[in-house]
Amino acid sequence: MAEIGTNIEQAAALLKAGKLVAIPTETVYGLAGNALDESAILDIFKVKKRPKFDPLIAHTDSLEKIKGIVTHIPDKALMLAEAFWPGPLTILLNKKPHIPDILTSGLSDVAVRIPRHPLTHSLLSQLDFPLAAPSANPFGYISPTSAQHVHDQLGAHIPYILDGGNCSVGIESTIIGFNEQEQPIVYRLGGKKIDDIEQVVGKVKLRINHSSDPIAPGMLKSHYAPSKRLIIGNLTELVPRFHKRNFGVISFHQSFEGLTADRQIILSKTRNLDEAARQLFGALRTMDQKDVEFIITEKFPDMGLGQAINDRLKRAATR
Ligand code: TXA
Ligand code: MG
Repeated sequence: MAEIGTNIEQAAALLKAGKLVAIPTETVYGLAGNALDESAILDIFKVKKRPKFDPLIAHTDSLEKIKGIVTHIPDKALMLAEAFWPGPLTILLNKKPHIPDILTSGLSDVAVRIPRHPLTHSLLSQLDFPLAAPSANPFGYISPTSAQHVHDQLGAHIPYILDGGNCSVGIESTIIGFNEQEQPIVYRLGGKKIDDIEQVVGKVKLRINHSSDPIAPGMLKSHYAPSKRLIIGNLTELVPRFHKRNFGVISFHQSFEGLTADRQIILSKTRNLDEAARQLFGALRTMDQKDVEFIITEKFPDMGLGQAINDRLKRAATR
């Protein structure tokens, strides 16, 4: 069983020996291994039961190190890097030949990110290789936002979980790439708000996949899903309609009379979307573990992190 602790040296030693370690980031916990070591990468796919057509993100602690793994950084990418790294933004850049194809599922771009969590930042500074780190959950399930979440699902398969507390953003990074004309295209909504990105590089195109087409991997239609059925709708109508059934509610800010407290989770009493994002995955997990038949939730305001929350809920409700 995995040990949970805060020993960065131990984590670094395991990673240098080719082993996997779960690491905290400000978005979600990652399942990390040496991004230059094909056998470590294969282990990541195996532990997560992840299909190999779904590429991984390489994490480092400096732009200098990123320059070592990519051929070219477009001006707008550099502006985003300077504005938002370390932070919840992943940028797709043309990879150098020594970056293993299995990391990128054969694509010419590698996804790179400098995460903001202090423990992981310090861990990365002790390594002379980037860390491949997908979210530390079994493929398709809800991403982990605490060391315990990782332990519950992957604890039997990895030696160490670096415990950095609860994730402060709570939703995966926003993914952005550039077309031939170096125009920015957002492929995944996430912890960095579109408004903030547009303030730096101007209008961006959104290419968010809502089909089951695996060409935009990771943006698979059904994803981030609890094992219980999730229904999105108007809670004021749904709660009374289902009154004879055994269900749980995850609401933005509203509480419901006639429902016991253990059957409802409010994500932010003060209607704060950042707080709601931080609580979302933990709430889905908690409800999934309760004795309820299904979970009902609602559409969030389509602004700020509400956009990423709605994206995750939509995928979690798809099966
Ligand atoms: O916040 C995050 O991004 C977290 C933390 C641990 O950093 N990581 C994460 O990784 O969410 P993962 O593997 O669960 O999701 C990354 C997604 C992949 O599913 C894939 O679709 C996309 O990033 N991706 C990675 N490399 C890509 C590439 N070269 N081109 C297009 N999409 C890529
Ligand atoms: Mg994931």
